[in-house]
Amino acid sequence: MAHTEALTATDLRPPEGPIIRASGLHKTYDTGAVEVHALRGVSLEIPKGEMVAIMGPSGCGKTTLLNCLSGLDTIDAGEVFIEGTNIATLPDRAKTLYRARRMGFVFQTYNLLPVLSAAENVELPLVVSGVNAQEARARALGALEQVGLRDWATHWPAQMSGGQRQRVTIARALVNNPAIVWADEPTGNLDSQTADEVMSLMERLNSEHHQTFVIVTHDDAIGARCNRIIRMRDGVIVGEDRTR
Ligand SMILES: Nc1ncnc2c1ncn2[C@@H]1O[C@H](COP(=O)(O)OP(=O)(O)OP(=O)(O)O)[C@@H](O)[C@H]1O
Ligand SMILES: [Mg+2]
Repeated sequence: MAHTEALTATDLRPPEGPIIRASGLHKTYDTGAVEVHALRGVSLEIPKGEMVAIMGPSGCGKTTLLNCLSGLDTIDAGEVFIEGTNIATLPDRAKTLYRARRMGFVFQTYNLLPVLSAAENVELPLVVSGVNAQEARARALGALEQVGLRDWATHWPAQMSGGQRQRVTIARALVNNPAIVWADEPTGNLDSQTADEVMSLMERLNSEHHQTFVIVTHDDAIGARCNRIIRMRDGVIVGEDRTR
């Protein structure tokens, strides 16, 4: 009965905090000849389900910030909590599993593997997560369906256009139903119409599945379609605009 079920642990939980919380992040690259202080004290909070853009001039630290937030790169000082967990403290294997299960990546440098079909590329995070082959294939086809590429499952990346490839990358990022999708210039190599389609796809997934999107972009049109724009310069956050 509703009455007896009324008071559960769920009800007693405090309101949900931000899904991403970072404070005092510093990152220095030491290349021998020069030290680059790429992040100089970055703090931010991103609530669950937000679609946020990170913008700023080339070299200001956007990619570094994304890599440090997602745990792909280490930080020199500060703390990052994702879903309340300080992922830097997880052992490597646990960190890899956490990323494969809870995060999706749409990076230009995270290219599709040319020797694998679209479906095989999309399956990769599932394979890492230990999902069995049959289920992995079924979910990969489902993800390709969501991005409108169900009929392209057996094609190789070389047989696809740039926009189609980027949609395969998005399918791969979403196949695990991740809590957070990190996208580094996801539309950077695309013409404006294809960029618009890719952004519409991410907006739809954000509103349907309430996934959190963190999108690094140089494109004002993309930024304007996010909930908020975080502006960076020289390794720090210099401001933000709430767009809608
Ligand atoms: N692996 C690395 N080794 C040394 N220096 C690096 C490395 N990665 C980035 N940097 C330096 O850190 C600074 C920030 O780089 P980052 O790639 O984060 O900038 P960005 O804002 O993403 O630029 P862009 O818009 O051009 O992609 C730059 O000065 C860059 O040269
Ligand atoms: Mg970059």
